[in-house]
Amino acid sequence: MPLDSYLLRHATPEDLPALYRVCLKTGDSGQDASAIQDDPDLLGEFYVGPYVMLEPELAYALDSSEGPIGYLLGVLDTAKFNGRLERDWLPRLKKTHHDPVGDPAGWHGSDWVRHAVHHPFLRIPAALGPYPSHAHIDLLSEARGQGVGRHLMQTMMERLTELGSPGLHLQVSPKNKGAQDFYRGLGFDVLSSPDLPDDTLFMARRLGEPDGED
Ligand SMILES: CC(C)(COP(=O)(O)OP(=O)(O)OC[C@H]1O[C@@H](n2cnc3c(N)ncnc32)[C@H](O)[C@@H]1OP(=O)(O)O)[C@@H](O)C(=O)NCCC(=O)NCCS
Repeated sequence: MPLDSYLLRHATPEDLPALYRVCLKTGDSGQDASAIQDDPDLLGEFYVGPYVMLEPELAYALDSSEGPIGYLLGVLDTAKFNGRLERDWLPRLKKTHHDPVGDPAGWHGSDWVRHAVHHPFLRIPAALGPYPSHAHIDLLSEARGQGVGRHLMQTMMERLTELGSPGLHLQVSPKNKGAQDFYRGLGFDVLSSPDLPDDTLFMARRLGEPDGED
């Protein structure tokens, strides 16, 4: 794979500004969210920061010669992670970002992320029981389409399998058809259950089993 020009390494707190930028540049269902978000860091503070700070052994930055160009973030036990998120990460964010009120039709900019900060989905639906781990991957456009994402997700699945996880789930925007195809190619299937929220797609696969290509 053409990873020669990239280096996958553990992410550190010093990486957060660059990784928040990657999050912003991929934050609109895989597309650049810069024109939508009025707070350029908030997506990253919610979707990236806690992984690097609370689960650093599974948080990776992908470096190019220009600096971080993507990230791969994993969580072994989502229920435990969500507890730490609620206790150790969200209180500060809740203090510094207001909870948007009123009709969501009137919200703008980063209001949906502000809402998520104040009303995060931390419950573990029964349908996710067999898949206790979860992950996120985002690459800037210049790193895409070269087999890098596949390699990184395989790395995460190997790491989680070594750590004893029986299964991995991911959340995908229903609009992000490209990512859905990408995950399907790695052996993930869409979960369908009345106890799952309907504004996001959950895809999952067992670990320690072939992804259809091996
Ligand atoms: C989704 C993403 C991680 C995929 O990584 P990538 O390096 O571009 O994907 P790869 O080159 O490793 O492709 C692996 C396979 O997935 C398929 N695939 C990847 N992106 C795809 C897309 N947008 N549409 C359809 N298929 C896609 C490839 O065709 C390839 O299939 P093959 O093995 O049959 O050849 C990356 O494109 C990305 O970060 N996109 C923007 C952010 C995003 O959407 N993140 C996911 C949020 S849930």
